[in-house]
Amino acid sequence: MSTVAKAGLEDVVVSSSEICFIDGQQGRLLYRGFDINDLVAHSTFEEVAYLLWYGALPTRKELDTHVKALIRARKLPPRLIRLLRTLPPKTTPMEVLRTGVSALSAFDPDASDGSRDATLRKAIRLTAQTPTLVAAWERIRRGKAPVAPNPRLNHAANFLYMMSGKRATPLAAKTFDVALILHADHEFNASTFAARVTAATLSDLHSAVTSAIGALKGPLHGGANEQVMGMVAEIKEPTRAEAWIRKALAEKVRINGFGHRVYRVEDPRAKHLRRLATELGQQAGDTRNTEILNTVARIVTEEKRIYPNVDLYSGAAYVNMGIPPDQFTPIFAISRVAGWSAHVLEQHANNRLIRPRAEYTGPTSATYVPIDQR
Ligand SMILES: CC(C)(COP(=O)(O)OP(=O)(O)OC[C@H]1O[C@@H](n2cnc3c(N)ncnc32)[C@H](O)[C@@H]1OP(=O)(O)O)[C@@H](O)C(=O)NCCC(=O)NCCS
Repeated sequence: MSTVAKAGLEDVVVSSSEICFIDGQQGRLLYRGFDINDLVAHSTFEEVAYLLWYGALPTRKELDTHVKALIRARKLPPRLIRLLRTLPPKTTPMEVLRTGVSALSAFDPDASDGSRDATLRKAIRLTAQTPTLVAAWERIRRGKAPVAPNPRLNHAANFLYMMSGKRATPLAAKTFDVALILHADHEFNASTFAARVTAATLSDLHSAVTSAIGALKGPLHGGANEQVMGMVAEIKEPTRAEAWIRKALAEKVRINGFGHRVYRVEDPRAKHLRRLATELGQQAGDTRNTEILNTVARIVTEEKRIYPNVDLYSGAAYVNMGIPPDQFTPIFAISRVAGWSAHVLEQHANNRLIRPRAEYTGPTSATYVPIDQR
């Protein structure tokens, strides 16, 4: 048998893919060949989802049709809302999302159809429904009625509206749209790999996305920005940041929002979120969070040569939009569902079951002793 891969499959290329390219040395991220910086400057989340699924930018007419399909698919089945109401209020938003996405399959007219067209229809529905699901749970757990989606608002602005019941400021809506663009795909990260492993058994999109959400839930993947804001809350004041982070580094604490399996430089997504989080703080008249993060980033980079990742500044932006920290990872999923869907489509288009081997290191001739003789 071939040699054992490095722990965590580090640097192992498991498949070819045309969806996303990461250059970890140069800090470049491309979706379907388009630089993330250009997409942030010129595109929208809706267009990026189209690009990821169909492999090319849409014409105006194609985008129009695609956006309308997403808007039409936003509502949740009333029975799903009733199901959410039966969950204990302390259920975490990620548990609710995992359960809700799985349950949505029961209502989906294409649930058992694995064709590309049906999977695309399901991708539209899931991408449209996940923000409604996340926002509905936020309202329900606070004892409020869910807010119906507003068809006049784009994907990002509508989500913020459904969370609070109020229209977001243009800066908040723009920031959220950029955050959705930045999180939409990231090659073979853990959740996408989980989605592809599930899809490769020829299972369906809802199952693949449910697997992905389970993988995303872990703190080494999607949960880091929530932890970052825990650190910011502990530091409290920018003047305390330097001493706090030096002590943490001396104690060999792992600092959330830094380091990456692939990037050896700053994550190209971090600078956009830094800029937008700073602008949102300025608009709110309180820039303490980003000041703290900037000091932390300077010292971690100087001392450890470990650079900010996407999670360092996103929480600071979300907090300014009134989003509670335990909703940060579900927000990641709202965006990444576009990437997961693209990967399921690609996996199904040229499928082979993903079934690696293990190097067995256990005993090979254990003698069975009946239970009453042990
Ligand atoms: C993302 C992450 C899991 C990648 O980990 P990985 O590729 O498995 O790298 P390792 O955990 O093996 O770390 C390699 C080295 O860098 C150090 N390191 C990596 N990230 C670090 C961090 N955030 N803080 C402090 N040290 C870190 C490790 O201690 C290790 O040092 P060592 O070789 O002296 O022991 C890791 O960087 C991390 O835990 N970051 C914090 C969580 C986070 O922000 N996650 C979001 C990712 S987008």
